[in-house]
Amino acid sequence: MKTLLTNASQIVTVNTNKKNYKRGIKELNNIDIITDHSLLIEDGLVLDFIPNSKLGKYSATNKIDFKNKIILPGLVECHTHLTFLGSRANEFKLKLRGASYEEIALSGGGILSTVQKVRGASHEELLNDSFTKINRFIEQGVTTLEIKSGYGLSYYDEIKLLQVINSLKAESKIEIVPTFLGAHTYPPEYKNDHKKYLQIICSELIPFIANNKLAEFCDIFCEKTAFTSEDTDLIFTSAVEHGLKLKLHTEQFNNVGGLDAALKFGATSIDHLEVIKESDFCKLRESKTAAVLLPGVSFFLDYDFAPARKLIDNDVIVALATDYNPGSSNISNISLVMGLAALKMKMTFEEIISAYTINSAFALNRSERIGSIEIGKDADFAIMNTQDYNDIIYNIGTNLNVMTIKKGNIVYSKQGE
Ligand code: NIG
Ligand code: FE
Repeated sequence: MKTLLTNASQIVTVNTNKKNYKRGIKELNNIDIITDHSLLIEDGLVLDFIPNSKLGKYSATNKIDFKNKIILPGLVECHTHLTFLGSRANEFKLKLRGASYEEIALSGGGILSTVQKVRGASHEELLNDSFTKINRFIEQGVTTLEIKSGYGLSYYDEIKLLQVINSLKAESKIEIVPTFLGAHTYPPEYKNDHKKYLQIICSELIPFIANNKLAEFCDIFCEKTAFTSEDTDLIFTSAVEHGLKLKLHTEQFNNVGGLDAALKFGATSIDHLEVIKESDFCKLRESKTAAVLLPGVSFFLDYDFAPARKLIDNDVIVALATDYNPGSSNISNISLVMGLAALKMKMTFEEIISAYTINSAFALNRSERIGSIEIGKDADFAIMNTQDYNDIIYNIGTNLNVMTIKKGNIVYSKQGE
């Protein structure tokens, strides 16, 4: 069935002319806004842009009126650790009194305190809690959402987490992308036997996960307090052998060789980059690896922001995400993250929109299908209650989304709008 989305003040297409990512100031700033047109969709796909003066011949077509609203590509949230349980408010308070994220991790808190909660939880508990969290993203216009494991850290518990994420994938109204992050930190059982845990990851978990299609990506936390670049090499070798795509948490607090390891394996994205060295910018420019920046983390931990301006000036494919997790970014508010990108990283409004749509889709290896409104792509949209896209970033912390459409289906509609 054909449907016309009519009367919108702006259609923010983020058009790429089929290139499917944006790099450099010129491309990122061109979000290609169309006015005086309606959007024709059919079978979950974008069929055409129809000039409003030619709507006459569509009198019998099903229509949805978006007067005084704008249409954006569905937002793509490409980095979360959403399937967790429990609160780490105590740690947050310690941090406010001067303890660092790394100090807390070294004293047995941090990721490991969430691991305890997750290990003690059932599939059902994790599933129900995650649904509530996913809904918060859907209400903000998110149509594709990545979720990492990484709070199980044993064979049994990592598989349990990935099974939960796959149940979410099967039952959610939006697209869920599962990522295996068994190498988040070394679990207490293998604190003194890293070799054994690496063997479990490389020879037991990765083969099982790949054979059972439980994850699309393999991610690692490459950092002084977590996994080394040599560990990263080993794990990525196994992941590639088994057909998983790669992501890496790296250059968050220290440069320990993660960036080079990720680029050597052609990772789809490298995430964080708060402390990336200037001499590494050119390596990223020459690659097709996306740089996923997470300003919510810098805000939440009160430390350096990634050098977004310089990365964009150096033609890097920059994407944005919340990194929603209980320890370093208990922030699921995309509008806040966008506001931080503007205020603290000096990204332009247009760059922020490109980074949260087409480039975050690229960071999930699906930008040929989603992330921009182009003929033939999926009909995934966020409908914002404003007449001008600038308001989305200007209204820091306020959710302007009133309707979320996934593959042509309305999956969220705000009451009374
Ligand atoms: O992306 N850096 C490592 N992992 C997460 C934090 C997870 C946690 O603290 O629970 C991050 O910042
Ligand atoms: Fe993360």
